[in-house]
Amino acid sequence: MTSTCCSRIALIAVTLAAVSAAVSPRAAHGSTPVAAAAACCWCDGDTPDAFRVTVDADGQEHELVFSDEFSQPGRNFSNGADKRWTAIDKSDYTNASPVRYTPEAITTVLDRGAMVLANASDPGSERRVFRPYRTPYSALRIETRRITDKAVAKAVNKTFQGGMLQSWDKFCFTGGVVEVSAKFPMGLGFWPALWLFGNLGRAIHEESNDGLWPYSLEECDPVYEQRPVAKPGKKQRISGCDPAPPSGLHPRMGRGATEIDLVEVGDSWNGQAGWLMQSLQLAPSIPDHFRPKLHDPPIGYTPNPRTGQVAWVPPTHGASTRDTWYRRLRFGGNTSGVPAVLPNAHWYGPKFADSLTAGISPFHDLSERYRTFRLEWREGDGGYLRWLIDGVFIFEIPAAALDKYTVCAQTPDDGAPVCETTPRRKLPSEPMSIVINTALGSWNGGPDATNGHMPGEMLVDFVRVWQSRERTNVGCDPPDYPTRRYIDEHAHLYGTPARPRGYDSCPQIYPHGTRGADGDDAGARAAGARRPLGGALAIGLAAVAAGALVALFGGSAVVRSLLRKRAAARQRPSQYGEVGDPAGASREPMLR
Ligand SMILES: *[C@@H]1O[C@H](CO)[C@@H](O)[C@H](O)[C@H]1NC(C)=O
Ligand SMILES: *[C@@H]1O[C@H](CO)[C@@H](O)[C@H](O)[C@H]1NC(C)=O
Ligand SMILES: *[C@@H]1O[C@H](CO)[C@@H](O)[C@H](O)[C@H]1NC(C)=O
Ligand SMILES: *[C@@H]1O[C@H](CO)[C@@H](O)[C@H](O)[C@H]1NC(C)=O
Repeated sequence: MTSTCCSRIALIAVTLAAVSAAVSPRAAHGSTPVAAAAACCWCDGDTPDAFRVTVDADGQEHELVFSDEFSQPGRNFSNGADKRWTAIDKSDYTNASPVRYTPEAITTVLDRGAMVLANASDPGSERRVFRPYRTPYSALRIETRRITDKAVAKAVNKTFQGGMLQSWDKFCFTGGVVEVSAKFPMGLGFWPALWLFGNLGRAIHEESNDGLWPYSLEECDPVYEQRPVAKPGKKQRISGCDPAPPSGLHPRMGRGATEIDLVEVGDSWNGQAGWLMQSLQLAPSIPDHFRPKLHDPPIGYTPNPRTGQVAWVPPTHGASTRDTWYRRLRFGGNTSGVPAVLPNAHWYGPKFADSLTAGISPFHDLSERYRTFRLEWREGDGGYLRWLIDGVFIFEIPAAALDKYTVCAQTPDDGAPVCETTPRRKLPSEPMSIVINTALGSWNGGPDATNGHMPGEMLVDFVRVWQSRERTNVGCDPPDYPTRRYIDEHAHLYGTPARPRGYDSCPQIYPHGTRGADGDDAGARAAGARRPLGGALAIGLAAVAAGALVALFGGSAVVRSLLRKRAAARQRPSQYGEVGDPAGASREPMLR
């Protein structure tokens, strides 16, 4: 989901690179129940204990620091109503969108099943029947529909209404593991996305993003510095060359609003052969020389004959090889349940920014079943971004891939080479907020292509974030990447402030030794807030809380749905029960 630019997803070619069976990383969920809802301020008490810990592909354990299971139906996400999320109330003027985002489009429901092809072996016939899930999902629902009231359409200057949920300035985190489970609206035109966005920017508030999206450059390079007198543009607004930046920002440290897309979706008109994309948006971009032409594949990646995974090795540093794109990217996929991955999906980003992407296709059931999208994010110089779908490795960007890129040309007369260099970009280290939305994309036909599939429904079963104990970094104002004072002092860029701000909801927790503006060890100060209770006591309290829930709501549908959800967590991926009677296609939530 690019916030300021055009999209790349229409450009996925049908030709997929040949990739053979991939190796699954060790992305298993840990099962040790640990303390405890009481100690984790952002955690939803309804998260099953089995998900209190997760283990990344390197074997490192991470503890839950945030979750939302969406298990209470009928939730209201209007600004001020929820501590984790704000449902945006604003017309979207990015990407030629025809959508007004409104809180009315978003609530929580019980999702009891999906419309599936009546005859799966005959996708040509589009007849669909309702098929109930074995156990319903309690889920967030974002609905996209035409605005039927002409006066409303005129007032908001848009023809469709839809939803965008943001944790901006409420919950932010730096590094760790994120998982979101979701299913998507059927039909071309819809553009659902689950993404992370640096808190110095705010999605669809373009004044805040100008000159920050999607910069990840900390060092000084005058080429990219936005001069105060220049008109706003694509240069970096908070530059590493500035010795005295405003609002408590650190001197000589470039900042940005980077975008990491857990997933963006493009379904087809009839739900067949849809695709997913996972990506990092990054500025500044590498020299044109290395950028393949639109629709062309990058040169020089080869599948590993043993694993089938695609490793991207060239160019060697400074080598003058055309169209080779980034080095060291790794791609997976093409294994059970996850089809082949198209390296970079043959779209490379707008001129000034690079889109490092895995395109995965074809999927025939994006609107039918939930998939879990996972990002493992180790920030810093030795770090990486690693994407998985249902536990299957898809894509990895190691920090080293973002190193300096140089191309030199020999001048004909005196032989002195002329070089173009993109400096080393930083693997994102900014505090990130979470965004969940459905846009309508003009690039893939827009609303006219949705083939009557209105209203479109995006459903999210859960959002969970874990971090290792040593690197717990929760809050929108980390001492080494502050955002709070900057947002306060530039409030006019950010629209209606989020209420309540994260600072009023939960303690911030930052690693020891992170640099504060005044040089103190803010991490050490904040860390005490992490575990005010002993482990055993916290477990006890969590047990009491769980007991209280059952006692209060007894045999209520909410609790039943929650218990079913826990059972379902162990049963996936076989999500369906028996094929139902199409007349049972009452998709209405039961519990509203
Ligand atoms: C996927 O892997 C299989 C082997 O497991 C291979 O035969 C097939 O060609 C691969 N498909 C693609 C599109 O890479
Ligand atoms: C949600 O909350 C807002 C403000 O608290 C209120 O104005 C609105 O009517 C509520 N919406 C629903 C559907 O209850
Ligand atoms: C389903 O489609 C297949 C392939 O077109 C066809 O052979 C089969 O008879 C169909 N089954 C039913 C029950 O219509
Ligand atoms: C309404 O939208 C159009 C294009 O979508 C835009 O050019 C125009 O400025 C908008 N008007 C207002 C009042 O925002």
